[in-house]
Amino acid sequence: MIPQSFIQDLLARVDIVDLIGRYVALKKAGQNYVGLCPFHGEKTPSFTVSPSKQFYHCFGCGAHGSAIGFLMEHGGLGYVDAIGELAQQVGVQVPEDSARDHEGATRIRGLTEALQRASDYYRRKLKEAPVAIEYLKRRGLTGQTAARFALGYAPDAWQPLREAFETYEDPKLVEAGLVIVGDEGKRYDRFRGRVMFPIRNPRGQVIGFGGRVLDRGEPKYLNSPETPVFRKGQELYGLFEAQEAIRRRQRVIVCEGYMDVIQLAQAGFEECVAALGTAITAHHVGLLLRVTDQVIFAFDGDAAGRKAARRALEATLPVIADTKRASFVLLPEGEDPDSLIRSGGAVAFEDQLARAMPLSRWFVASLAEGKDLEQAEDRAALVAQAKPLLASMPPAALRMQLVRELAEAARTPTADLESLFGLKPWRRLAEARRPANPPRRSAEVEDLKARILQHLLAFPELAREFNAQIAAEFAGAEQPVDRQIAEIWRTATLAGSTSQGALLEALADSEYAETYRAISRRDLLLEGDASAAREDLRAGFATLELRRVEDELAALVREPLTPESKERIRELSERRVRLKDAPRRAGAT
Ligand code: UTP
Ligand code: MN
Repeated sequence: MIPQSFIQDLLARVDIVDLIGRYVALKKAGQNYVGLCPFHGEKTPSFTVSPSKQFYHCFGCGAHGSAIGFLMEHGGLGYVDAIGELAQQVGVQVPEDSARDHEGATRIRGLTEALQRASDYYRRKLKEAPVAIEYLKRRGLTGQTAARFALGYAPDAWQPLREAFETYEDPKLVEAGLVIVGDEGKRYDRFRGRVMFPIRNPRGQVIGFGGRVLDRGEPKYLNSPETPVFRKGQELYGLFEAQEAIRRRQRVIVCEGYMDVIQLAQAGFEECVAALGTAITAHHVGLLLRVTDQVIFAFDGDAAGRKAARRALEATLPVIADTKRASFVLLPEGEDPDSLIRSGGAVAFEDQLARAMPLSRWFVASLAEGKDLEQAEDRAALVAQAKPLLASMPPAALRMQLVRELAEAARTPTADLESLFGLKPWRRLAEARRPANPPRRSAEVEDLKARILQHLLAFPELAREFNAQIAAEFAGAEQPVDRQIAEIWRTATLAGSTSQGALLEALADSEYAETYRAISRRDLLLEGDASAAREDLRAGFATLELRRVEDELAALVREPLTPESKERIRELSERRVRLKDAPRRAGAT
């Protein structure tokens, strides 16, 4: 079997107009090319090739397909041969014979499929577990938030997953970290009687879980073990859900816990992630700095939090460039972002963000902790401890600035420190700073969904941008259109489709393949514009959310008011105002 990702990559390298142009005389007509159909006799051209969508369609005979489809239909090649032919044309190797790769890929797929199945199961079980629902409610989470993060519940029994899998003895379940083999080969579920937090990789695949006890018990959080698909030092909790917000707000907030990420997202800070029960690594920070220019660490105001902030500093120094910013928020003693939001709302956290220490200040402050800088010996210790940190940095402007800050705190001339550290003097100015560049009911909802489907099909790259919204809105939904949206999203993000033609190729075996082809036929002659589609999607998701907020409000005011429901009504009303203020694009596509 040839991996779909290879096929998608291949299609991204071929231009269908080029390819077909070798066999059919094509001429430009608007944004497409037309010619006489090679598949049926005709005198006026109805054979259309779209360069932006990368597929062909004949309005005369209905022939339709991608570059691969064309070689199959026109050259009479089989699927594998057509791919081989294309691969040869662009000079890449088809990876089919590498049996080991294939085996590895199959094994990985088996693990992520098992984890996804377990996640779906835990989600279903949450709906049937009043204690767990009650627990999440008590912690202030809404159903919507639980859906966004796909929260679940692992029933309190020895082998709940027996219900979810045909063969509980499948070694794959052990390898995925879901089942433990105990003494005498007895098998039992790793997660029992816990609220489940699925951990997803940036492509949305479930790669592990965190499970929290309800109230008291040890350990408080149980995490999946390291497996071939789960590397704790490399993955961040919440990154999948936060991607779009990170891009939009041009910053990321890194905190310590699962609940912090979730509570912050619910309070409007969707650009939030956490390390997975381990210290932040340089790998983590590097990953984040590739997507955004600003990283804000928000750690608990206790000794452990300060230590984590110190570790985060050490992880940041080797990977930070002069155009990037890192800052540190140390919350008041005894608070974490979750508790702070619960007691003071989004405003309380906003206040803390406003007081964030820039890296240069935290650098000196963290080193000075526990020292008396009135004492020469303590100042010497400060300098000595700073040395390896500075040595770990790229030799750029920021390092020189840190040396200056240190010089001041240590009451030592900068030049002395430089020669002590063996640092070269500052020669080049920092690179120019990056430019800031922020970029009625049921019938209405149906219309919105149809447009979302259309946009995602036309611009597969948008599927990744709207990961979190699509996951929250459609991943568990049952209507055909919901399932179609979820399928397109999953396929486009997993396979990495870059054009409509490539995406349709990846969806060829779907039960909805014909529907997708029909939509693409219909839209073939529309002028394509990804940024308009992006705006329309953004507005569309805001409207869907607004509808949900209004539905919940309507339901709440129908019931007798309680202090909790009043609080919730206040929250929802605020959210409604915010959603209504969001810029909306009027009209259809
Ligand atoms: P905390 O102990 O600060 O928990 O651990 P928390 O996030 O505030 O949890 P709640 O609010 O009581 O639910 C911070 C993070 O450390 C990891 C988890 O990732 C947790 O979110 N941790 C903590 C574990 O992995 N295991 C544990 O037993 C405890
Ligand atoms: Mn907490």
